[in-house]
Amino acid sequence: MHVGIDEMSISVPKLYLRYEDLAEARQIDPAKLKHGIGVEKMAVPDADEDVATLAADACLRLLRGSGVRPDDIGRLTIATESSLDEAKALNAYVIGMLEQAYGGGSFAHCGGAEMKFACVAGSYALHDAANWIRAGESEGKCALVVATDVAKYALGSSGEYTQGGGAVAMLVKEEPRLLALDPKVASAVVADHRDFFRPMGFVTPVFDGHYSNWAYILQVVRAFNAYRARARAAGLLRAGDSASVLEAMDHVVFHLPYPKMGKNAFAYLFREDKRSTPQWEEIVRQSGGEDSPLSLDEADLDDLTGDRSLLERDNAFRKALLKTEVFDQSFSAKVADSLYGCSQLGNLYSAAIFMSLVSLLERNAEREGLAGKRVLFCSYGSGSSAMVYSGVIQPGYAQVAKQIELEKQLSARQSLDFTTYEKLHQGTVLCSSPIKRKEWGFQLRRVGGEGVTRGLRYYALVGDPVPASS
Ligand code: CAA
Repeated sequence: MHVGIDEMSISVPKLYLRYEDLAEARQIDPAKLKHGIGVEKMAVPDADEDVATLAADACLRLLRGSGVRPDDIGRLTIATESSLDEAKALNAYVIGMLEQAYGGGSFAHCGGAEMKFACVAGSYALHDAANWIRAGESEGKCALVVATDVAKYALGSSGEYTQGGGAVAMLVKEEPRLLALDPKVASAVVADHRDFFRPMGFVTPVFDGHYSNWAYILQVVRAFNAYRARARAAGLLRAGDSASVLEAMDHVVFHLPYPKMGKNAFAYLFREDKRSTPQWEEIVRQSGGEDSPLSLDEADLDDLTGDRSLLERDNAFRKALLKTEVFDQSFSAKVADSLYGCSQLGNLYSAAIFMSLVSLLERNAEREGLAGKRVLFCSYGSGSSAMVYSGVIQPGYAQVAKQIELEKQLSARQSLDFTTYEKLHQGTVLCSSPIKRKEWGFQLRRVGGEGVTRGLRYYALVGDPVPASS
């Protein structure tokens, strides 16, 4: 039995800030943002949007497009690190909104919970849903897995130009039309790291930027090596120390805090993968002749980030490797297409890796060339945990991918001026007077101000009240 993603949908904030405007206001060289970070537009939620409306919009789009009814769904899991409440799960708000479209009680049977492990939580949620189906607990029903986040950093901080937001909803079921997950290969690693966290009550995270990049690299490489061992044991890769994982993968999608991270992370995986192959000597020669002294699988994060000389030598090697033809060919064929969504939206935290998949699918939907191709997923969540897994794109993917309408949603957005962006960031725009009027979907109408409804959020559906497919 194949289990995996049958259908995907997305929802993106109505507004965006151009990188040129951010660069000008913060006096940063725009070339750094465009080429060094890779961002072009940064998604900014309007005052009547939040992670619950983004999630509910994505769910409603998926249900409308697929014709799936509430009764077909047995479980809803929502992954987020931008939770709106310390107790009440986002699920309850999202189900409340969906029932405005489908009728009160229509999702009453649909169990599930909110899940958190920074940006990797969506990958855990996807696998838990798949295993719930494989275990026979689903009784023929599907699972709806939604990753939704708003990446918000302090104004003027180095995280500001990686902000973004959006939601991705996935219908998980047997014999999926989009992607079948490879069983028994998903590999996770966990460690107690201080790279990025958001203590209770904090609106923006505490983070150590370059340290967090290294936490990402080390954890993803470790999960990649664990994947290699499991994939060999499962017979997915041929046995033998020098067998390449990347050669067995047609595409690689990453968690993307910013697009350039995908390129850098691929450079480290490429190196980890090729170092034990006969090709490596030639790759080092093309990179200038001097290999990096860094051993990724054994490195200690604190020792590594404190060793300036090691970092400089490693950095020189990485930059040289990025310029080689052999790396460029592999990157262009396997990774480049998946960076697009992040360049237009910024960081989607838990939804980012699925936006990478959406970008890959949508950019190849017309050519229909992805059927049967294997995709490696490299997921990372600060704190920290990485999960590496894989799946095979199914023959019916192109038709499903066309309905995701990434480009259509991106082009319907409105550009913001810098002053309005700062007002939205500081929360001084009221949800009752948003910057752009919403024509369809769910809207935050108000937040309860006193007594037993203090802090409670109220949402309403605008536009088409009844889903098209019902
Ligand atoms: N023109 C072109 N390129 C330029 C440039 C210019 N004028 N100036 C700098 N660059 C290049 C640099 O060479 C560098 O390239 P490499 O990646 O190849 O080294 C790149 O631009 C970035 O430059 P800096 O390292 O100087 O940038 P920075 O100090 O602003 O830090 C950052 C970048 C660490 C990502 C910072 O934006 C940050 O702290 N972000 C928030 C934390 C984060 O996103 N961490 C990612 C890993 S953790 C994770 O993945 C979980 C998550 O989602 C948060």
